[in-house]
Amino acid sequence: MRPDLEAGRVAVVTGGARGIGLAVVEAVAARGVAVLCVDHPSADPSAFDAVCRAAGVASALVGVDVRDRDGVRRAVAGAADLGRVSYAVNCAGVDGLLGSAGMGAEEWRRVVQVDLDGVMFACQAEHDLMAEHGGSIVNIASMSGHVVNRGVTHAAYSAAKAGVIHLGRALAVEWAPLGIRVNSVSPGYTLTAMTRTNAPEVNAGFAEQTPLGRLAEVEEVAEPVVFLLGWRSSFVTGTDLLVDGGFTAW
Ligand SMILES: NC(=O)c1ccc[n+]([C@@H]2O[C@H](COP(=O)([O-])OP(=O)(O)OC[C@H]3O[C@@H](n4cnc5c(N)ncnc54)[C@H](O)[C@@H]3O)[C@@H](O)[C@H]2O)c1
Repeated sequence: MRPDLEAGRVAVVTGGARGIGLAVVEAVAARGVAVLCVDHPSADPSAFDAVCRAAGVASALVGVDVRDRDGVRRAVAGAADLGRVSYAVNCAGVDGLLGSAGMGAEEWRRVVQVDLDGVMFACQAEHDLMAEHGGSIVNIASMSGHVVNRGVTHAAYSAAKAGVIHLGRALAVEWAPLGIRVNSVSPGYTLTAMTRTNAPEVNAGFAEQTPLGRLAEVEEVAEPVVFLLGWRSSFVTGTDLLVDGGFTAW
């Protein structure tokens, strides 16, 4: 059977040092795809290195804050040294749980700049590498870009994630003539550093609000991302795939 991704090609993954991004790195590396990871300079590269070494693929991790447009452009351009860049997954993101009324401009900008500007800057840099041969970009949005989470105050995050979903549609239309597809995945509550630090009763509440009755494992988000990256979704662009255990269906 034809493999879903082309071995020997290169994927750019932002936020690939841990969490959902690291699971995406593991999923694409297992298919023989080399990986260039862009993550915050403070990120620990050891898990990323171990995963790529175990899969036997070429890899590099560059420490850049995704809010730094020029830095992202330079870092992503380096992916061409690993081969032809056909895939990109933009996972880098932060939450921000301050209530809206008293939120200062600095906190608003921190969240929106990482979660929305950072995705745009990465997409622009990835576009430049894919313009000649085409490619597939998947942005990690959130179910919070579709609905307001009960009991959680994170308006900046929700607004940024809704922006990521619609940005994907706009880029998909602009770049379709180049053979570049752009889609997003909107995870529900997923077990990563973002949620593992919650009090057990908080995650139990999230599980209760989810029809499947639990939080997602990172691999359950990574595999739908691979579907959107690869040829099996070759007629899918400008769409968002909810991977939320049914959360938004209620
Ligand atoms: N965990 C969840 O429940 C959940 C749900 C929906 C969506 N998401 C989204 O999935 C994505 C991954 O989240 P996660 O849960 O794996 O979180 P995580 O905190 O485990 O990983 C986030 C990664 O992004 C990197 N990052 C953060 N700020 C950065 C910056 N300014 N520049 C460069 N890199 C930066 C971090 O270093 C880290 O490697 C995020 O976009 C998040 O919003 C997560």
